[in-house]
Amino acid sequence: MRNMGMSSMSFLIAFLGCLVLAALIQAQDQSGFISIDCGTPEMNYTEQSTGLNYTSDANFINTGVRKSIASQLRNGYLKHMWYVRSFPEEGKRNCYKIEITRGTKYLIRVEFLYGNYDGQNMLPQFDLLLGASQWATVTIKNATIDQAEEIIHVPSLDYLQICLVDTGHGTPFISSIELRTLRDDIYVTRFGSLQNYFRWDLGSSRGYRYNYDVYDRYWSYGNINEWKILSASITADSLDQSQDDFKVPAIVLSTAITPLNASAPLVILWEPEHQTEQFYVYMHFTEIEELAKNQTREFNITLNGKSWFTNLSPQYQGVTTIRSKSGTSGKIIIFSLEMTENSTLPPIINAIEIYKVIEFQQADTYQGDVDAITTIKSVYEVTRDWQGDPCAPIDYLWQGLNCSYPENDSPRITSLNLSSSGLSGKIDLSISKLTMLENLDLSNNSLNGEIPEFLSQLQHLKILNLEKNNLSGSIPPALNEGSVSLSVGQNPYLCESGQCNEKENEKEQEKKKKNIVTPLVASVGGVVILLVVMAAILWTIKRRRSKDLMVEKDPSQISPQYTEQDDSLLEFKKQIYSYSDVLKITNNFNTIVGKGGFGTVYLGYIDDTPVAVKMLSPSAIQGYQQFQAEVKLLMRVHHKNLTSLVGYCNEGTNKALIYEYMANGNLQEHLSGKRSKTKSLSWEDRLRIAVDAASGLEYLQNGCKPPIIHRDVKSTNILLNEHFQAKLSDFGLSKIIPTDGGTHVSTVVAGTPGYLDPEYYKTNRLTDKSDVYSFGVVLLEIITSQPVIARNQEKIHISQWVNSLMAKGDIKAIVDSKLDGDFDSNSVWKAVEIAMVCVSPNPDRRPIISVIVTELKESLAMEIARTKYSSADTRDSVKLVTMNLSTQVVPQAR
Ligand SMILES: *[C@@H]1O[C@H](CO)[C@@H](O)[C@H](O)[C@H]1NC(C)=O
Ligand SMILES: *[C@@H]1O[C@H](CO)[C@@H](O)[C@H](O)[C@H]1NC(C)=O
Ligand SMILES: *[C@@H]1O[C@H](CO)[C@@H](O)[C@H](O)[C@H]1NC(C)=O
Ligand SMILES: *[C@@H]1O[C@H](CO)[C@@H](O)[C@H](O)[C@H]1NC(C)=O
Ligand SMILES: *[C@@H]1O[C@H](CO)[C@@H](O)[C@H](O)[C@H]1NC(C)=O
Ligand SMILES: *[C@@H]1O[C@H](CO)[C@@H](O)[C@H](O)[C@H]1NC(C)=O
Ligand SMILES: *[C@@H]1O[C@H](CO)[C@@H](O)[C@H](O)[C@H]1NC(C)=O
Ligand SMILES: *[C@@H]1O[C@H](CO)[C@@H](O)[C@H](O)[C@H]1NC(C)=O
Ligand SMILES: *[C@@H]1O[C@H](CO)[C@@H](O)[C@H](O)[C@H]1NC(C)=O
Repeated sequence: MRNMGMSSMSFLIAFLGCLVLAALIQAQDQSGFISIDCGTPEMNYTEQSTGLNYTSDANFINTGVRKSIASQLRNGYLKHMWYVRSFPEEGKRNCYKIEITRGTKYLIRVEFLYGNYDGQNMLPQFDLLLGASQWATVTIKNATIDQAEEIIHVPSLDYLQICLVDTGHGTPFISSIELRTLRDDIYVTRFGSLQNYFRWDLGSSRGYRYNYDVYDRYWSYGNINEWKILSASITADSLDQSQDDFKVPAIVLSTAITPLNASAPLVILWEPEHQTEQFYVYMHFTEIEELAKNQTREFNITLNGKSWFTNLSPQYQGVTTIRSKSGTSGKIIIFSLEMTENSTLPPIINAIEIYKVIEFQQADTYQGDVDAITTIKSVYEVTRDWQGDPCAPIDYLWQGLNCSYPENDSPRITSLNLSSSGLSGKIDLSISKLTMLENLDLSNNSLNGEIPEFLSQLQHLKILNLEKNNLSGSIPPALNEGSVSLSVGQNPYLCESGQCNEKENEKEQEKKKKNIVTPLVASVGGVVILLVVMAAILWTIKRRRSKDLMVEKDPSQISPQYTEQDDSLLEFKKQIYSYSDVLKITNNFNTIVGKGGFGTVYLGYIDDTPVAVKMLSPSAIQGYQQFQAEVKLLMRVHHKNLTSLVGYCNEGTNKALIYEYMANGNLQEHLSGKRSKTKSLSWEDRLRIAVDAASGLEYLQNGCKPPIIHRDVKSTNILLNEHFQAKLSDFGLSKIIPTDGGTHVSTVVAGTPGYLDPEYYKTNRLTDKSDVYSFGVVLLEIITSQPVIARNQEKIHISQWVNSLMAKGDIKAIVDSKLDGDFDSNSVWKAVEIAMVCVSPNPDRRPIISVIVTELKESLAMEIARTKYSSADTRDSVKLVTMNLSTQVVPQAR
């Protein structure tokens, strides 16, 4: 039983690779499919039996070698398994880079068939990475059987990097990569991605994939003795799939199983490798027998002895999918289908999918840094093994880089060492885009030209080594007087400060000035021409100014604006929208998704990506001068628990802010039951949301310089994305909408009644502790689902209400009754205590936000521990028919 997990599953999936599917192939839509045959010598081809169009991997990777599997194996496998790409001598990480649509849900599958391609008959083991994160360790178990790794994942970047890592146990190789887009609203998890653990067409004696399955899921098969097989002829036409978002193929649903002993339950169980593993289960049901009037088939489903679904009666030729709404874990997981008292027929099940949650914890490196280092790599033709994510995982840090790894945020490049790397040409502007750089070593190369002033704009730079190059000109004064430790020795043409005769220097400068524009444009040529010309003009203006100042011997006056301006030029291009753009984006303000004191929020689309467009109410911001400056500042704030501002419109009174779209609306709607009458957030969900929101607030206070006071933390300003990840919205609005001169918006700016720090009335000042107060109120809402101010005569505040119940020790009365006692009391107590200390009238008694984050995480850990323990504990109370799957699931002969 213990082995049942991965081993037998991969065995089953492996077997599917051998299938030669029916020849009758109707052309079906393959849009949203990317099918890559790794190592094939052909540019592209259509695989006959599936009709799938495969393309060569040559455009996605430039390392590795093409190899063919042993030829006698070929006729058991589809063509895309015939070749592999292997990585015998390359660096330890080799990556495929595939452009995709960010934010779209994909089924991603990679396959491996060793087939003794290298004649060594040695089964390798290696690691697989997805972007910056470990995905799986691939252990090839049998040379003649193919294996797959498959996940359902929503990428957060515009490309996907799939990397193979040599871990010293043999040469990595790969046979194929397949990506299929899925609907966003199926296979939804609260967090993490779904790794295929088992997908089973029950009762079938063969496997299926595309083009039976529109999503090209692999359906494996295999039967055991305790099951009786039912089958019927069901076609896509006869099947009623109106209720079926999962689009399970009719042929998969046309077989089912039922217990051999009609009065016994049908049991499906497995033992996870670790108790911490979380699973999502999808069961698909179709009644395939026409029942007589006096017959009923009705059953309950239990999960580890607790009711999971009751009174299920699959419809004749209809499709019902019963699925997990949150992750399931335990020492053992037992689903039992038991007929109800009135049922005359035993339970059936047609297909089951089991997925394991994997959380890709390691954030990808900050996109700006990745773009910059990629440019540097190509400008200087760096030949090092620079592939995959630059900073992560930390074990595969690019040689010559060092990074910082802030908690809850993207890694940043802090050090670049290209010493003795044969660099030539000028010092490239892209280096200045590594804005967190502390340490830059370009020594012992053949770099020429002047030392660019943009290096002095690197705010964090501490060490700059430019020794042993052919640099010329003088050192930008700003570099000389800052805190940078500068080394410029052995640059024969460089005029080091103090050594230069100022008169001579001035003449030199005069001469050079005339030549400046041309060489600069020429050196950067080929990138974005317009931008470069503009940058060059700015640069010459700067040069003039700095020269003048040098004469005046007052270099301290030089303001560090160069990179700043260049940056904003770039951002402008992407982020300013005209009013007519806004009309287009929102389809003439077609769909309203929200309303607030500051204006209305509309749904829009930019290149098919949904966005939320907030039209600011004209009276609020009329004649306001700082709007643009403040918006530009806000656009630089990035954190996973803050809604991103992606652009804005600033045409007279038409002022709009464009945010990322949050599919699951705001927290308040979920707490009040407005979103869904039937399902309510679990205690664990609520704690995750609280931790997310607190983390967002922590970033505003500690991660932003200067810190941002939100001023309007409330449950309607906490938005949830499709994975129920919470993000704070509307931060910084207080700066965009001015407080003075405002009329009806002033309450928005100063906060919302019920959430507003009482201290504010005394001091008229909002501080970071005011945000802590408001957060405390939100936390009370999360715990209780009560209105902040009671909707009755007394208008009691939520904190007074909780306080009175706490005094009685009545935790049950405090907690939202919708939770139905399903929570760890200690976890709830802890959360209540955190909330109550946040709403202390005295600001000094309120904790700082980082303490709140830590405490909430502890509360979450308690709750998680409880759910694990209880599901393991019910083990003995369940009467079960144990099926030893690992030994009895024997696939049929090929
Ligand atoms: C597959 O490629 C063939 C040949 O280019 C083309 O005719 C066919 O339309 C493609 N099929 C699909 C479904 O894209
Ligand atoms: C293969 O690729 C080439 C070049 O990209 C293209 O012209 C051709 O139509 C493709 N053929 C098939 C069968 O897809
Ligand atoms: C590999 O699989 C084949 C086909 O199922 C089987 O005959 C062979 O014994 C297996 N080899 C090993 C080493 O398990
Ligand atoms: C069938 O299952 C019922 C209920 O589990 C049990 O009481 C009965 O003994 C079983 N019959 C046989 C023949 O195993
Ligand atoms: C249902 O009715 C049929 C005749 O219509 C009869 O043969 C059968 O025994 C009945 N079954 C049950 C469970 O009552
Ligand atoms: C099935 O569930 C219903 C509703 O919860 C319950 O009344 C009934 O006793 C259950 N039947 C069995 C056999 O567990
Ligand atoms: C079983 O059937 C009887 C008669 O039709 C009905 O009164 C009773 O409510 C049913 N029980 C259940 C649990 O559905
Ligand atoms: C990278 O940074 C870490 C932490 O600052 C430091 O301990 C380490 O020595 C650095 N590594 C290199 C290669 O500079
Ligand atoms: C850069 O790397 C060289 C060796 O490649 C080393 O000697 C030098 O100290 C490094 N520079 C820094 C700043 O770490």
